[in-house]
Amino acid sequence: MVSWNTPAVNARANEILSKMTLAEKAAQMVQVPFAYVTREEALMWAKRGAGSFLHVLGNDAREIQAAAMGTRLGIPVLFGIDAIHGHGLNQQAVIFPSQLAAACSWNPEIAEEMGRVTAREVAADGLHWTFSPVLCLGRDTRWGRIDETFGEDPYLAGELGAAIVRGYQGDDISDGEHILACAKHYIGYGDAVGGRDSVDTEMTFRKLKETFLPPFARAVEAGVATIMTAYGSIDGTPFTASERAMRTILRDELGFAGFVVTDWDNVASLVNNQHVAADIDEASLLAARAGNDMMMTTTAFYESAIRLVESGKLDESVLDEAVRNILRVKIAMGLLERPQDRGTPACLGCAEHRESALAAARESVTLLKNDGALPLDPSIRSIAVIGANADDIRAQYGDWTYFTHPHPSPKTTPARPYVTLLEGVQMLAEPHGIAVTYARGCGPLPNEADDLDAAVAAAQDADFIVLAVGDVIEQSGEFRDRADLSLSNRQEELFFRLRALGKPVVTVLIATKPLCMTKVAEESAAFIAAFNGGMYGGQAVAEAIFGALNPSGKLPISFPRHSGQIPVYYNSMPGWHGGKYVDLPDTPLFVFGEGLSYTSFAYENVHVDAQTLQLSVRLTNTGARAGSETAQVYVRDLVSSVITPVKRLIAFQKVTLEAGESRELVFQLKRDDFSLLLPDELRVVEPGEFTLFVGGSSKDGDLLRQNINLS
Ligand code: BGC
Repeated sequence: MVSWNTPAVNARANEILSKMTLAEKAAQMVQVPFAYVTREEALMWAKRGAGSFLHVLGNDAREIQAAAMGTRLGIPVLFGIDAIHGHGLNQQAVIFPSQLAAACSWNPEIAEEMGRVTAREVAADGLHWTFSPVLCLGRDTRWGRIDETFGEDPYLAGELGAAIVRGYQGDDISDGEHILACAKHYIGYGDAVGGRDSVDTEMTFRKLKETFLPPFARAVEAGVATIMTAYGSIDGTPFTASERAMRTILRDELGFAGFVVTDWDNVASLVNNQHVAADIDEASLLAARAGNDMMMTTTAFYESAIRLVESGKLDESVLDEAVRNILRVKIAMGLLERPQDRGTPACLGCAEHRESALAAARESVTLLKNDGALPLDPSIRSIAVIGANADDIRAQYGDWTYFTHPHPSPKTTPARPYVTLLEGVQMLAEPHGIAVTYARGCGPLPNEADDLDAAVAAAQDADFIVLAVGDVIEQSGEFRDRADLSLSNRQEELFFRLRALGKPVVTVLIATKPLCMTKVAEESAAFIAAFNGGMYGGQAVAEAIFGALNPSGKLPISFPRHSGQIPVYYNSMPGWHGGKYVDLPDTPLFVFGEGLSYTSFAYENVHVDAQTLQLSVRLTNTGARAGSETAQVYVRDLVSSVITPVKRLIAFQKVTLEAGESRELVFQLKRDDFSLLLPDELRVVEPGEFTLFVGGSSKDGDLLRQNINLS
């Protein structure tokens, strides 16, 4: 783990700081948006000593760095980019499953490997920093950025978040193979009212600390170098202006030692959107005081900061502190010694990295329903693959690739191989002489090529139908929330017309989030959630269909039955009317932690020692083939002075067992796992009885229980 705050690093930062002018300090706090300035302006900013640029690749980055190195102090620029699931803005790089899809693996090793490979590819481009991971919780699935989250649960998001941070940053961040991570968006962004991107949150500091902070705390423990401020607000204060969030909680309580970067133009937003500052000087004052060290894209901060210090409104020590935080990170990562060409260019999209993308895709495949149609019966002679998303690599990739954010793409032809679902089915069918036909039918958005009759005709003579449904990138991402999550366009009609043919229909969801597709999922012979599986997402699903892969994904997020049920998440608070609707079951369609396998698992002999807090359970693969299972441990505080969730994940383990194999799993729990926050925000364990649950999903019926008494 990298340390950003050693005496040697501090001493060097202070030495540089002592030589800096006020203007150089103000420039160091600015991050310049390369795509929004001219080349001359970019070079001017480099010469002024701007601390960072975002979204620059290759030779452009080299030219800017050379200009920065030629300045009086020669402090190198940090180049940041959104390498969210792979270095997706570069057309040569590998594309991993989205964070949400990767979270289905419930496997921190997958997250760490994703980080490691992405770091190598970003470094190969001469860049130093990714704006990842997103540690917001995906609770309101109407929100456009659900795909960027690790799902709805703070513990799972924290474990996967810490793992990906380790992958990005490694043990030696100066080795040219690793980059800075950025935990974002601090904080509560995913809890925006109505799932509407970047609006206000209904949040208290207690709720923030209890639910939304834990993943960030884990990232800080893992040594994350940077934190990005959220767009939203808390109790009337924009997070950008919240000293309590940024200084008291993040620095004093969590001990964060890296630097804070705002999100896109957050400083100007205090004037233009949130209306808590009359002009840019006032906004700059609020942002700097609150503890934002670097201002993303608000280049006007530069003049404002100088004016504010010169007029005595802002103490220069506030700038010193911010610049020191930035310099420390630059020094600790060895940027001053090696500002250019730190990486290994030949690694971009290399075979080893592609293997990792395939491994991640395989572990993300989540089988949610199977009436026995899968794996495919070997006697099947023909398959009809239907649906636009079965052969749409943009939909399979999802957000944050060169398709969705074209600005920094270098002018090269995509060299990256990928496998769509159709191509995957074709690949696996061919050796068995199984015929594959394809018809588009329709996609998530109306298109003149939509033709349901042709799809029905293509499926007419097939033995088996694979239907891909989902969403496309125009329906998700920033600025693109949805009020209605039912299957869009004519996708549901397409399903029922195919279903009427009386053949097994396996439905595959290729989407950025759980969609509300209750009838379709229930009436499919089998239902697979693939989400955005990345470059090999289609291959992984095809392998699962053919039985070459035994699916092991578990949902990191609940599937609502209906848009009106949102938000729905397993770790809700108890209420005495049971929180029921008169027109809908109160449970989601598929719950957090749920996922099937082609084998079966049995849990027995749960035992908890209240002294050592060790929990053990025997897990047996009771089926006929090897498979992986994720055992999950939840806790419930039976009587507490404040209401606590009906169930809360505190541990999990993913294990692979051969057919018939049995193993005792041991979980070492911590006393803190049983703690709660009192109204005055003091963390305590209240003595009394707790129920521990262990099993294969968060559903009551899937869990064994054991009560313990803690004194
Ligand atoms: C997003 C961030 C992203 C930044 C830079 C913002 O609009 O909210 O997640 O890192 O842009 O692209």
